[in-house]
Amino acid sequence: MLVSLLIIAVILFVVYVKWRQTYWQRKGVTSIPSMFLLGSSPEIILKKVSIGKAFRMRYEEMTKIDRLHAGGYFFWDPVYVPLDPGLIKQMLTKDFHYFMGHGQYYHPKDHLTMNLFNLEGEPWKAMRTKLSPTFTSGKMKLMFNTLLEKALLLQKLIDGYSDKQEAFLIKDLSERYTTDVIGSVAFGIDCNSIEDPVSDFRKYGEKSFQITFRKILLMGIFPWNLLGNLGFKVIDIDVTKFFDSIVKETVRYRESNNIYRKDFMQLLLALKNQGSVDGKPNDEISQKNEKTTVLTDDEIVAQCFEFFLAGFETSSTTMTFALLELALNPDVQDKLREEIVSTIDKADGKITYNDVMTMPYLDKVVNETLRKYPPLSFLSRTCSKTYKVPNTDVVIDKGTRVNIPIWGIHMDPNYYPNPELFDPERFTEENIATRPDFTFLPFGEGPRQCIGLRFGLMQTKTGLVTLLKNFEFSVDNKTSIPIQMAGENIVLHVKGDVWLKATKVVNNN
Ligand code: HEM
Repeated sequence: MLVSLLIIAVILFVVYVKWRQTYWQRKGVTSIPSMFLLGSSPEIILKKVSIGKAFRMRYEEMTKIDRLHAGGYFFWDPVYVPLDPGLIKQMLTKDFHYFMGHGQYYHPKDHLTMNLFNLEGEPWKAMRTKLSPTFTSGKMKLMFNTLLEKALLLQKLIDGYSDKQEAFLIKDLSERYTTDVIGSVAFGIDCNSIEDPVSDFRKYGEKSFQITFRKILLMGIFPWNLLGNLGFKVIDIDVTKFFDSIVKETVRYRESNNIYRKDFMQLLLALKNQGSVDGKPNDEISQKNEKTTVLTDDEIVAQCFEFFLAGFETSSTTMTFALLELALNPDVQDKLREEIVSTIDKADGKITYNDVMTMPYLDKVVNETLRKYPPLSFLSRTCSKTYKVPNTDVVIDKGTRVNIPIWGIHMDPNYYPNPELFDPERFTEENIATRPDFTFLPFGEGPRQCIGLRFGLMQTKTGLVTLLKNFEFSVDNKTSIPIQMAGENIVLHVKGDVWLKATKVVNNN
């Protein structure tokens, strides 16, 4: 009897999955071929290629058939993939209210998940409004000296390798720099990972990205509210305890000793105690409800945690790929160094916030790096109410996942001819004007665009300026060229790592 029931259950499950995986066919949307149970990108689940690479392959296959849109499956769950930049623009901006969420798990009982990236609907809107004033250029300027201090420590470290003519892992060094920067400005503490490569921050930071297959499956199958109430935690308890204790201790220490520092933590404390970053109540939110104007300690922990995760790896990845391409393209490297040296000369040997943020060639080099290697290779959204795709009869149901293929678009020869070529001139004003809008999306777009865009650029550019002013970079023969991407990372990551060598530049400031 039990065996018969089991057989019936298995048959029903197989029929359900097979039926579910015809969803796009039934809707008349071009379907991305899918595998029973595993969906459209089994290579990701089997860890054969990176998420980024799999999405790029699907983009290339699908745009040969349909340039408007396609539909795939995450396991057996439908995923809508807009391919046309005009449609993407409409979904991310004008029709944003249909696609407000990132579709990430969050639950108050797993309080680190209650961060800006994961929140949806009204709670997201209220949190975004509270946090936006902490990322203005005025606030960035306040933090610039901290960044410079950390960049100089990184320079000292590379000095050591250069003296011994030893190769180094540039991703590892850049990550230690960005970990120290974010640790200092978000948590108000010295992580000291430039000097101590195995700091707790790096250990727990890396652990936060490691989500087991079992957890991914559970989140894919069961309603999140039920999971959360049953005590499911996507973030490991030791990671939660680590960030909880660091942040709450800092909050207590600063409050009881009246410590003031020019960093994010200070701004979050102002939000906690006064309801705004400048001490004045934020009108837009305070009008709504007194309770929504202030941040709680748990909310501060969740935001710091997210700033750390979103900030350290994306920027260190960008620095790594920029230095790799500069090492492979010495003409571009020389031209950029000339710009940096002459700008610093004009400022009496000082590196200033304004100069770092406005050097035109540096901007082109960083943009071209973000085009060729967007750290997040796709944007995610969920459809929050039934949506009719403009100029078609296709209706996307509430709850459908949406993936926007950033890397595929960035490597599409229709927008970027000879896409493998590293060419910063793609970002002159004239060349930008030849491309459709929304064909360059490293930070996303619309109201949910990366809130840390300015900070990420400042951090990446300050690191590059400090290093290029002092060193010439070349690729060590331990790096396999052409590079391949590693399979297990969410953020783009080179398989086998990037080894560089640095030679000191003569006659610099
Ligand atoms: C080169 C560096 C960076 C890149 C390429 C990057 C990229 C992105 C992307 C693609 C998104 C999703 C946008 C969307 O859905 O439309 C995002 C969101 C976000 N990023 Fe960044 N990021 C970077 C640096 C940073 C830094 C330094 C921080 C914090 C200090 C940060 C904090 C966030 C947060 C909190 C969100 C969620 C925003 C929201 O949902 O309202 N990012 N980022």
